[in-house]
Amino acid sequence: MKKIFITRKLPDEIVNPLKEKFEVKMWHSEEIQMTYEELKTEAKEAHALWTVLSDKVDRELMESLPNLKVISNLAVGYNNIDVEAAKERGIVVTNTPGVLTETTADLTFSLLLATARRVTEAERDLRAGKWKSWTPMGLTGMDVFGATLGIIGMGRIGEAVARRAKGFGMKVLYHNRSRKVEAEEKFGFTYVELDTLLQESDFVVLLTPLTPETKGLIGERELELMKETSAIINVARGGVVDEQALYEALTTNKIWAAGLDVFEVEPVPMDHPLLTLPNVTVLPHIGSASIHTRMAMMQMNAEDIEAVLEDKEPENRVV
Ligand code: DGY
Repeated sequence: MKKIFITRKLPDEIVNPLKEKFEVKMWHSEEIQMTYEELKTEAKEAHALWTVLSDKVDRELMESLPNLKVISNLAVGYNNIDVEAAKERGIVVTNTPGVLTETTADLTFSLLLATARRVTEAERDLRAGKWKSWTPMGLTGMDVFGATLGIIGMGRIGEAVARRAKGFGMKVLYHNRSRKVEAEEKFGFTYVELDTLLQESDFVVLLTPLTPETKGLIGERELELMKETSAIINVARGGVVDEQALYEALTTNKIWAAGLDVFEVEPVPMDHPLLTLPNVTVLPHIGSASIHTRMAMMQMNAEDIEAVLEDKEPENRVV
């Protein structure tokens, strides 16, 4: 019987059907992350490895799992996996595209609105007993309606964010590796160079995957180009932004605010300088976290694992 190893506790209704065909071993906790060494030992005999985005799956790990045929990642991003090493060893990698698009776009827009209107800061103030009276300029933020939105990384989620922005009367600029001419015409987005986008946008939204090309894409130079009244929203991966440069830009009023769902190190250390700033709205990487979407993502992974273990082509192959 082929063996599946799952690195987090997943719901029975998703996992049980697999047990009819395969031997399934699952880590005991939904919250506690396995260490790299534990993963090496526990998954030793696995033919399929079902991972989450915080599991590092590198060449060394693959080499220590001799039976491995497939890695299914519970995320659309797969920067935690060395896909080149997987390809060389003939290991299939699958992810969860499409199904999380609208949910992640909803969260992106929530974070944009929360950042613009200082929602979490206002709630913190109220709970801390700081609401003494209605103040004319207290907790005033930036308008979203009619503002210019710049999207860096115009994939499926970018398009879904841009569609929402149209409902807010926003002008939408985007920058991407390739032009999306059809979508430009259909939805009225405008392609611009990166520097133009940074100079003209009121809200810069990062939705690009983390690759060697996008690592540190937004650094001191790029933040310097942004408007003093603008905000940056990162729902991609922490590594796309130089966090030190972002801290400097926020504390020297080069930009007005930031909304972050992702960090270079996750969970973000509680003594991280960015957490000390009131103009930074933070979330614990919950882009795709709706019940329906997470269940759909897991179902996708389960079907792809089953397909590969039965020598069929999986729907969502990365390599
Ligand atoms: C993903 O799937 O890559 C997202 O970051 C999850 O929120």
